[in-house]
Amino acid sequence: MSQNSVINLDGQSFELPTFVGSENEKAIDVAKLRDLSGYVTYDPGYKNTGATKSAITYLDGEEGILRYRGYSIEELADKSTFLEVAYLLIHGELPTKSQLDSFESEIKQYTISNEVLKKIADTIPNSVHPMAEIAGLVGLMSAFHSTEEAGDDEKNMMRLIATLPMMAIWNYKKGLGQEVNLADTSLDYCSTFLQLMFAKPGEAYTVDPVVSKALNKLLILHADHEQNCSTSTVRLVGSSHANVFASVSAGIQALSGPLHGGANQEVIEMLEAIKADGGDTDKYIAMAKDKASGFRLMGFGHRVYKNFDPRAKIIKKAADDVLKALGVNDPVLSIAQHLEEAALHDDYFVARKLYPNVDFYSGIIYRALGIPTNMFTVMFAIGRLPGWLAQWKELKTNKEPIGRPRQIYTGYTSRAFVDIANR
Ligand code: CMC
Repeated sequence: MSQNSVINLDGQSFELPTFVGSENEKAIDVAKLRDLSGYVTYDPGYKNTGATKSAITYLDGEEGILRYRGYSIEELADKSTFLEVAYLLIHGELPTKSQLDSFESEIKQYTISNEVLKKIADTIPNSVHPMAEIAGLVGLMSAFHSTEEAGDDEKNMMRLIATLPMMAIWNYKKGLGQEVNLADTSLDYCSTFLQLMFAKPGEAYTVDPVVSKALNKLLILHADHEQNCSTSTVRLVGSSHANVFASVSAGIQALSGPLHGGANQEVIEMLEAIKADGGDTDKYIAMAKDKASGFRLMGFGHRVYKNFDPRAKIIKKAADDVLKALGVNDPVLSIAQHLEEAALHDDYFVARKLYPNVDFYSGIIYRALGIPTNMFTVMFAIGRLPGWLAQWKELKTNKEPIGRPRQIYTGYTSRAFVDIANR
């Protein structure tokens, strides 16, 4: 039953409508509050603000639940493939066999390199971080593909799903000074990526099914996460009617930050630094608790998960399985396990409900798969892409208004201009 909320301000009462989502999340609609009362709401970091209604991903941070379009992340990670999940996110339903076949074959067709874009990529120095490179290249894609005609959006979404991994491959091969191989068109999406990344020019390459399965799983686990920083960025940029390339490019830039997707690179660098420093995890736990140190335990904590991150649970197990199956003995795995164990029993972390997040163990798997550290966040971007696309499409379909927050001005009040000679 819908009810109104009442807010008392300056001796007056104002009624605001409320509504309830399909999982009983309750909201007060404050859109008219300023018109009615002169007050705006203030919520830095949007800790308590729903910016949109969305039917894509459901997340319950207290219970550790994550579902895409109603399907649990555990089941999808176990039974699905990344492109099937991409279809589900973008179109709202699991594909039939023929829908999936045509989705996959269209994406495969777009994997054929855009030679001009690749030439531009080749001019970017190796010293540039791959996240900066792919963000720039994705933004440039609007130079090559129409965004105005009917049907362009659907095609461009598939182009992006095909091209983003290609950009990662161009970057990796450029660093090695190697040519990019021709894609083996008989392979699935993840296997093609592995073949193009790791096949040496002129040599046969067999994709290890353990590796390809692990990659599928990782990408599925990253595919959407409701209104996180990069997705909110994609929606905010898209709300100005910027095209999908511009919106996704902005999302990639937002993802690159160390508090967001950039954390997966930082985690491995942190674990390596602890190893080089003698492996004393207690010292680093103490540093993380000391605000003056400026050090945070990377891969720990989450804005919405307050018991555990269901993705981290799956990834931790996958890390164990993958390392065993590949016969890899990564010494940072035991450092990570020690850190986790210590933090889970430490009052500071317990009181603040800080648990390992998706980034804590993902880097260890990426490393075992042969992905270089500076490309970990690119892998996150490849995984998150279907989520960005689904959210961008939803924003457009729902004809959402331009995003434009208010502020509380705290600067100078009016003052007279001072001539330069008198300053
Ligand atoms: N190490 C030490 N202390 C921490 C950490 C951490 N990793 N994370 C949060 N805290 C403390 C923080 O200092 C604060 O303490 P106090 O209440 O005494 O001031 C309290 O916990 C709450 O932290 P917050 O920064 O207010 O929480 P937030 O919701 O604004 O930030 C976060 C969430 C993920 C940015 C933060 O936990 C963090 O910086 N974690 C490390 C970076 C990281 O792993 N990021 C990846 C996030 S998951 C993947 C993704 O979605 O991108």
